Amino acid sequence: KSDPRLQGISEAIRVVPHFPKQGIMFQDITTLLLDHKAFKDTVDIFVDRYRGMNISVVAGVEARGFVFGPAIALAIGAKFVPLRKPRKLPGEVISEAYELEYGTDCLEIHVGAVQPGERAIVIDDLVATGGTLSAAIRLLERVGAEVIECACVIGVREVKGQCRLNGKPLYILVEPR
Ligand code: PRP
Repeated sequence: KSDPRLQGISEAIRVVPHFPKQGIMFQDITTLLLDHKAFKDTVDIFVDRYRGMNISVVAGVEARGFVFGPAIALAIGAKFVPLRKPRKLPGEVISEAYELEYGTDCLEIHVGAVQPGERAIVIDDLVATGGTLSAAIRLLERVGAEVIECACVIGVREVKGQCRLNGKPLYILVEPR
């Protein structure tokens, strides 16, 4: 019953042990991007899921949410909104901090990029602790968007199928290898 495309997507992601530091099994999506079928299948699965749901905002998390987000946005007729690390966006921004292993980091959104009441999804390559996506959800809610779902290529499913993040659904294609 599981989508037969998922195995090809999983196998196209390179796992790099001990990068960027000892003990981390880095999930490298650059090899997925080299594989036309796997890349297209990835985008198609998200597009099939979100087309027809009246989504007008695809928000992508820097950096690898910028790879998948625009392709999805174009296909479903939505705008793409980059959520960036601090001091990258030139206009007026609002910021949300999130916890890292050591210290905190921040995501920012341009004021005016999203109108109150817009229906949004958040896209990133990978969810680990969920801290990054939580900050993304808070940013979008502060500008008045309704966050319909977060979507990641890779993540750990606590319950097979869907889990939740800040009360929002979290949709994951494959688990880390
Ligand atoms: C990675 C990944 C997610 C985030 C997930 O980004 O692309 O954005 O970590 O981790 P979390 O669920 O524990 O918050 P990274 O921090 O490596 O930043 P980068 O995309 O700028 O390289």
